[in-house]
Amino acid sequence: MHAPSTRRILVTSALPYANGHIHLGHLVEYVQTDIFVRFQKLRGHRCIYLCADDTHGTAIMIRARAEGTTERELVATMRQAHLADFASFQIAFDHYGSTDSDANRRLCGEIWSRLRARGLVVSRDVQQLYDPQAGVFLADRFVKGTCPKCKAADQYGDSCEQCGAAYTPADLVDPVSTLSGGRPEVRSAEHLFVTLEPLHDFLATWTRSSGAVDPRIANYLAGHFLCDPLRDWDVSRPAPYFGFEIPDAPGHYWYVWFDAPVGYLAATDEWCAAHGDTVTAWWGRGGANEPAAEIHHFIGKDITYFHTLFWPAMLEAAELSLPTKVRIHGFLTVNGQKMSKSRGTFLLARTYLDHLDPGMLRYFYASKLSGAIDDIDLNLDEFAAKVNADLVGKVVNLASRTARWLEATGLSARYPDDGGLFAQAAADGAEIAAAYEDCDTARAMRAIMHAADRANAYVDAEQPWKLAKAGPDAAVKLQDVATVALNLFRQLAVYLAPVLPALAEQAGRLVGGPIRSWDESQTPLVGLPVAAFEPLMKRVEKTQLDALLAAARADAEKDARHKGATAMEPTPATTSPATTGHDSGEPLAAEPLAPTCTIDDFSKIDLRVARILTAEEVPEAKKLLKLTVSLGGDATRTVFAGIKGFHEPAALVGRLVVVVANLAPRQMKFGLSEGMVVAASGAGAPGVYLLSPDSGALPGMRLH
Ligand code: MSP
Ligand code: ZN
Repeated sequence: MHAPSTRRILVTSALPYANGHIHLGHLVEYVQTDIFVRFQKLRGHRCIYLCADDTHGTAIMIRARAEGTTERELVATMRQAHLADFASFQIAFDHYGSTDSDANRRLCGEIWSRLRARGLVVSRDVQQLYDPQAGVFLADRFVKGTCPKCKAADQYGDSCEQCGAAYTPADLVDPVSTLSGGRPEVRSAEHLFVTLEPLHDFLATWTRSSGAVDPRIANYLAGHFLCDPLRDWDVSRPAPYFGFEIPDAPGHYWYVWFDAPVGYLAATDEWCAAHGDTVTAWWGRGGANEPAAEIHHFIGKDITYFHTLFWPAMLEAAELSLPTKVRIHGFLTVNGQKMSKSRGTFLLARTYLDHLDPGMLRYFYASKLSGAIDDIDLNLDEFAAKVNADLVGKVVNLASRTARWLEATGLSARYPDDGGLFAQAAADGAEIAAAYEDCDTARAMRAIMHAADRANAYVDAEQPWKLAKAGPDAAVKLQDVATVALNLFRQLAVYLAPVLPALAEQAGRLVGGPIRSWDESQTPLVGLPVAAFEPLMKRVEKTQLDALLAAARADAEKDARHKGATAMEPTPATTSPATTGHDSGEPLAAEPLAPTCTIDDFSKIDLRVARILTAEEVPEAKKLLKLTVSLGGDATRTVFAGIKGFHEPAALVGRLVVVVANLAPRQMKFGLSEGMVVAASGAGAPGVYLLSPDSGALPGMRLH
C-alpha cells in the first residue's frame, strides 16, 4: 500500500490545560511540533498529529466556582478559544480531543485494569493538605512553600524549580494555600497508588538505552529519581474533584496526571474511528510483518518526569508501544526574562495576532529551536531584525523584485544556465532535511538563508531592472534571469513550507501550484504561467511592537482587576508624572512634614508585612472594613481599616499589606482592633491607597 520507506509516525504535543488561554510560551511547543509534522508529511510519510485539551483537576473546579459556572461549560468555552488560536497560528492537528471524553474514560479504565491485574495498585492513607476556607484538598499547584531538599523559597507543592526535587505538598516547609493565602491543614484520606519499583529496571534501561530520551535527560533522571527506590505514584484524589470516578473505587477520582497522557490514546482512538483505523495499529507493539509505528511526544522540560517515568511505566504495564522519542524543549523568555504579567510581557496568542503575522513568530521560533532543552528568548528587537532581514529582505524580496517580469511571458521554456545555483541548493536539501528530522530547525533555517543569500547575490549581479529598460534585445535574458530567481524562490518556499505554510501557499499561487512534496525542491519549473505578485509579508515596525506590549499590559491589568489582584504596577503613560518627573505639590503642601524624629523613635514602630486572610464589611460603619491579617505562621490579627468604599473586600483577600504590628489594641464599637493597616491618603486625589511590598516579601518581614 505504501512505499517500503514510508514511515508511520504518531506525533503529540502536551495537552494544554483548559483553564487558561494559549500564550506565546505554549506556542514554542505547538509550533515546533507542527513544523515536525508538516515536514514528515511533505516527505511523504504517514504522520498524524494528535492533541487535546487537558480538562480535569482542581484548578478548573476552582475557576468554575469562582465564575459561577460549571466545569463542562468552562471547558467548552476554552476549547473554542484554543482551537481558534491554534488555527490562526496554522497549527494543523489531525485530531484535537478532550480528556473529558468517553474514549478517555474507557481507555483509563482499560489501563487501570491492566495495572490492577499486575498487582501494581495499592491503597494507603495519605496526609494531604486541605484548605478549610476553600473546602478542598489542595492540588500540588495550589500550595507553595519552601523546598524540603534545598530550602528554596516559594516552590510549588510537587517539585522544586531550583533543585528539581520531586516531593508531596505535605513535605513542603511552611506551606501556604494560594487559594486563600491561609495555612492549609493536614488531613488524612485514602489514596490509590501505582507502585513503580517493580518497573525500576525497565525504566532505568529504557531511559538509558532505547534512544527515546536524550542522554542528558537520562543522566538527570538517573541522578534524581532512578538512583533511589522509586516512590509509589499517587494517582487518586478524594471528592470533590473534577475528573473521572474510578470504577472500582467509588468516591475516588483519577488524578489529572493519570488521565491526561491517556488522552493521547483517546485522541488516537477518536481519529481512528473517523479514519477506519485502529488504536493498536498505532500503539501496538507490532510484529514480524508490521513494525510498530513511531511515537513522538513533544513536551516542555517542566513535565519531563511524567513523560519519561510515569507514562512509560503505564504503557509498559499495559503492554503498549513505548515512545520512540520524547522531544523536550526549554521555556520561553521574553526580553531575557520569564514572561511576566506585571512587566507586561505575558503575551497571549490572541494579543500577538492583533498586531503581527503568525508566520513571523513561527519563523523566529524555528530559527531559535535547535532540539536542545535550553530556554529560548524572544527578544523583540532581535525578532524584528531577524524577520525583516531574513523573511522580508531575503525570501520575499527575491520574488517581489523578479516575479513581475514574468507576468506576461511566464517561465522560460528551458531552465537557463544559473551557474549551478539551483543544483547547489537542491543538494543542500539532504542536510536541511536531516536538520528538520533532528528538530534542529535553527540549523535548517541557517542553511536555507545561505541559499537565499546566494540567490539574491545572483539577482544583484544580473540586474533584471536594467535588462527591463534595455528593450526587446534583452527580453530573453530578462525572462531567463527572472525564471532563475523565481525557481530559487520556490525552492526556498518548499524548504520553508513546514515553517511557513502561508508563504508556501502564496508561492504556489504565484507559480507552479500547491507545494505538496519535498521533492519539488529538486527540479526547476519551466514553461509555466506566473500569476500577479501578491505582497507576501511586510516589515515589522517598532510601532507594532510597542502596540503589542501596550496590549499585553492592558490584558494583564484587566486580568488583575478581574482577579482582584493588585500586584500590577501602574502603566507609565508617556505624559504621566512617572515619566515627566513632575508631580503636583498639593499633597505635601496640604500636610506639611512632621517634626524630626530619631531612628530610635522610628524603630519603636514595628511595621510588618502581613497577608489579608479575610475582609468583610462592617455594616454599621461608613468607612471600616474588618480584616484578619496573617503575620506568618499562626500569628493573626484582627484589624479595622478605614478603607471601605475604596476597596472591594473580596479583592483584598490574599494580598500583602503593611501593618503597624505593635500598636496598642483598641476596643472599638464593633470589636477589638489589634493593629493598623498602613495606607496613604491626602490632598490632590481622592482615595485611600494601600501599600504593597515588592513580590517575594513574606508575611512577618519587618520594614526597616
Ligand atoms: N496539561 C499539562 C500537560 C499534560 S500532557 C499529558 C500541561 N499543560 S500546560 O498548558 O501547562 O503546558 C502545555 C505545554 O506547554 C507543556 O509542554 C509546557 O511545557 C509548555 N509550556 C507552557 N509554558 C511554556 C513556556 N513559557 N515556554 C515553553 N513552553 C511552555 O503541562
Ligand atoms: Zn529544591
